[in-house]
Amino acid sequence: MPLPVNPPATPATLSQNARTVLEKRYLVKDKSGKPVETPEDMFWRVATTIAEADRKYGATDKQIEKTANQFYELMTQRRFEPNSPTLMNAGRPLGQLSACFVLPVDDALSNGQSGIYDTLRSMALIHQSGGGTGFSFSRLRARGSMVRSTTGVASGPISFMQLYDASTDAVKQGGTRRGANMGILRVDHPDVMEFITSKEDLTKITNFNISVAITTKYMEALKAGTSYDLIDPATKKVVGQMDAKEVWDKMIEGAWRTGEPGVFFIDEANRYNPVPHLGAYEATNPCGEQPLLPYDVCNLGSINVGYYVNDGKMDWKSFAKDIHLSTKFLDNVIDANKYPLPEIDALSKRIRRIGLGVMGFADALIKLGIVYDSPEGVEFGRKVMEFVDVEGKKESARLAEERGAFPEWAQSIWGPDATCARDENGNRIRPELKLRNCNVTTVAPTGTISIIAGCSSGLEPLFAVAFMRNQAGVMMPDVNEDFVAIAKKEGWYSDALMERIAKTGSVIQPEVPEKWQKVFATANNIAPEWHIRMQAAFQEHCDSAISKTTNFSHAATQDDVRKIYELAYEMKCKGVTVYRDGSRDGQVLSTGATA
Ligand code: CDP
Repeated sequence: MPLPVNPPATPATLSQNARTVLEKRYLVKDKSGKPVETPEDMFWRVATTIAEADRKYGATDKQIEKTANQFYELMTQRRFEPNSPTLMNAGRPLGQLSACFVLPVDDALSNGQSGIYDTLRSMALIHQSGGGTGFSFSRLRARGSMVRSTTGVASGPISFMQLYDASTDAVKQGGTRRGANMGILRVDHPDVMEFITSKEDLTKITNFNISVAITTKYMEALKAGTSYDLIDPATKKVVGQMDAKEVWDKMIEGAWRTGEPGVFFIDEANRYNPVPHLGAYEATNPCGEQPLLPYDVCNLGSINVGYYVNDGKMDWKSFAKDIHLSTKFLDNVIDANKYPLPEIDALSKRIRRIGLGVMGFADALIKLGIVYDSPEGVEFGRKVMEFVDVEGKKESARLAEERGAFPEWAQSIWGPDATCARDENGNRIRPELKLRNCNVTTVAPTGTISIIAGCSSGLEPLFAVAFMRNQAGVMMPDVNEDFVAIAKKEGWYSDALMERIAKTGSVIQPEVPEKWQKVFATANNIAPEWHIRMQAAFQEHCDSAISKTTNFSHAATQDDVRKIYELAYEMKCKGVTVYRDGSRDGQVLSTGATA
């Protein structure tokens, strides 16, 4: 008995902005570019495709239909959304459902699998299917080293990153979004300085975010004020030395000037690699929240925390129920997915990595009247993420009972294996837990799905209370509804006030009561330290990493940025991304103050 073709009668509760985004980029279209499905059809297409995966585990038609209805409601009520490729491609011929991939780049032009040009081809296939790719270029020999076969000299990692960048321009992601990449180079690679400055010219390498992979050894040298070794990736021999501070200063200067490079604390990330017997993390996905092994993939999904606050109270019971349902949804995505490469397909089924995270976190704080940049705000963040992690793992454990643990479980950090589930002192870093998924939690940026859900993005504070949003070339007004409702209720609303807020980008206005000035503090009004504290609180209870931008005012100094980089390391964050207001053209989000 096939599932009903038409969606349930309940319409999706979507804003006009959300419908516009869906129409522009997500809905199936005919040859003339006219949508042939409604947003409701789209959610039903996704719900039925993902629920269908239950059949493999013995579900009946009736059970599948019930699950499809639950998934439909989950998404149409904006309680949870999977990452964009799932919404775009589920139930369609492409069928590629994941947002993040990492591909290896070997030090050979081609070796039939993962040489520079082999991986270039794989990258194009992934971009075509709507996925983003991360690469470590650290295995490539340094610029100027010998190439034995031709007795020429190597052109080095940065030149190949430029090649990947040019190819990205040529292939549009599934015709819907431009390809996004992450380029990583280890701090001990001889070309590190060239890498750090490779994006100084903002018109170059525009399809890459770049991050330097920072090692513990390097951080020790930095602390001690000494130099550190540069290592030739081909011979593993020490080929030079750099002053740690000089390199750090250059990174800080770049981050201050343009927001790049970011840093990726690679040893800290690897401490939590759930499957060290299969390899080490070398890179992350494009936005940095997901360290991945070579040929690894992650399906992301995010729960809208603000949805669960009613009448000033958090409904933890409903939240838990939806965390369970969302975890199952993401586990099903692994089976429903059509991966672009056989290596990726194989690894995804052996480790079953998923990344459940949050969005609408700032909305939840506002509804509870809690200030983001306060001890209570950070404490609530820690509690929310711990809850997502604990409940997500409960469901993953239940699925393991029902469907089996992920095949590499026994040797993973969750398994009983004594050799790789321990830290250097012999202590377990994670409890023994029979899970269906090697990784359950990740906090994504939720750049587009938060617009679909009409909520604040990821764990970020509000960007602004009223602003214009550039969404794929269309400028859309965005006004915070909670703010308007409170202003109207308390009698201090006026159009003039909203205009002033949109223009200046600040809620610090005479008619706004002090309490609300604090609760509605926006990204730029929040001190950078508080951004990092919040990131670190979420990181404590997150398997992977956190997408977080630490915002600085235009007037911030390089020393301000330095302090934040060092604080992030001390607080055991897995990476840092900073953004100084106005330091780049074409910001996706802009308030009147900087546009
Ligand atoms: O909201 P949405 O699901 O579209 O994506 P996101 O949460 O903003 O980003 C999640 C991940 O999707 C990023 O870390 C990238 O790996 C990938 N991505 C991409 O490949 N291309 C984009 N233009 C945006 C995101």
